[in-house]
Amino acid sequence: MTSIVLFCRPGFEKECGAEIQEKAAWNEMYGYLELKKNKGIVFFHLQESEHGEALMNKLPLKRLIFARQWFVTVTDTLALPDYNRVEAIIEALGTEWQYSDLRMEMADDNDGKELSKFCRKLSVPLRQALRKKKLLTQKGNNSADDPDGAILHALFLSGQEVILGFSLVRNSSPHVMGIPRLKFPSASPSRSTLKLDEAFLFFIPRDEWGERLTSGMHAVDLGSAPGGWTYQLVRRGMMVTAIDNGAMAESLMATGQVKHKMMDGFKYIPMKHNVHWMVCDMIEKPQRVAKLMSEWLLKGYCKEAMFNLKLPMKGRYQQVTNDLQAIKDAFDEHNVKYELYAKHLYYDREEITVHARLLSPAPLKEKE
Ligand SMILES: C[S@@+](CC[C@H](N)C(=O)[O-])C[C@H]1O[C@@H](n2cnc3c(N)ncnc32)[C@H](O)[C@@H]1O
Repeated sequence: MTSIVLFCRPGFEKECGAEIQEKAAWNEMYGYLELKKNKGIVFFHLQESEHGEALMNKLPLKRLIFARQWFVTVTDTLALPDYNRVEAIIEALGTEWQYSDLRMEMADDNDGKELSKFCRKLSVPLRQALRKKKLLTQKGNNSADDPDGAILHALFLSGQEVILGFSLVRNSSPHVMGIPRLKFPSASPSRSTLKLDEAFLFFIPRDEWGERLTSGMHAVDLGSAPGGWTYQLVRRGMMVTAIDNGAMAESLMATGQVKHKMMDGFKYIPMKHNVHWMVCDMIEKPQRVAKLMSEWLLKGYCKEAMFNLKLPMKGRYQQVTNDLQAIKDAFDEHNVKYELYAKHLYYDREEITVHARLLSPAPLKEKE
């Protein structure tokens, strides 16, 4: 049986499963779900085996909110012997395909942490053997060099059980299990800083940072205190208006790049039309935030918005779908072209991060 294996945050398997099932059905591909509860792993067992690769070709991973990474299975669960594990894996793979990289994967929980030591050790002889058999190309170390290539995934359920599969380099995460390991900057006043750092990495292509994320730009941070997100804007050389009744870190104010206004983020309107980024981390009802974000973009108060939508305790997938639909409806009503992506990022918890920008001029922009 061919399945798609998806990785998500532990505890969000239901949402991740509901989403792949729905989006596959839009493409007339069907299957049933098997959730590995609190392990962050979802199996979508397909009715038709050729739908595995077809879905990977049709559906961009970037469009899935809850899945961090995915692959299509090549084997069912393999029972590994105590010795000669490498040989058993090679034999199961056959000789038909070549891969440009190998990913050793496991559950994102405590059992997975234990297993990761075993996987690290095994990966050295496994890589060597794969190269020798020409199953792994020599460039192997950086799959980004080979955008048309495939990545070999080995998902270890235990030291004795593995599932093998592949993903397409151009439609998968460059990070193992979709997890970017970011370093917490000690100068940041809060850990939330990693959320915005990851969001920029995920949503904005590196080769566009020079024009979209650069020094001298103006930014507004709604719900900014104590300043973890402002820190990310300041470190990129931006001038930031920080809106929050709470106090901002002294170190940020001392840079001279931050103006702090103690007021309600729902009432603030920028005086000039020179704001490129508006970021928002206010803990508020997601419906209210979604409405505010579409207004900012439609009125031309900012060019790009990055914001969080808090997740409810229950019906999370449905709520997120409704919130995003409200934003799309507002854009459609004004006939604008737009880009809108949402992701449950690694550093997010009970929220998702959304990036939005208009690709046609803001229709409600007042004359300056
Ligand atoms: C999660 S914290 C923001 C953390 C910040 N992004 C950081 O990295 O340090 C949420 C903030 O939103 C602020 N907030 C909530 N509702 C607000 C509103 N209506 N207007 C302005 N700020 C608000 C709170 O005072 C709080 O400081």
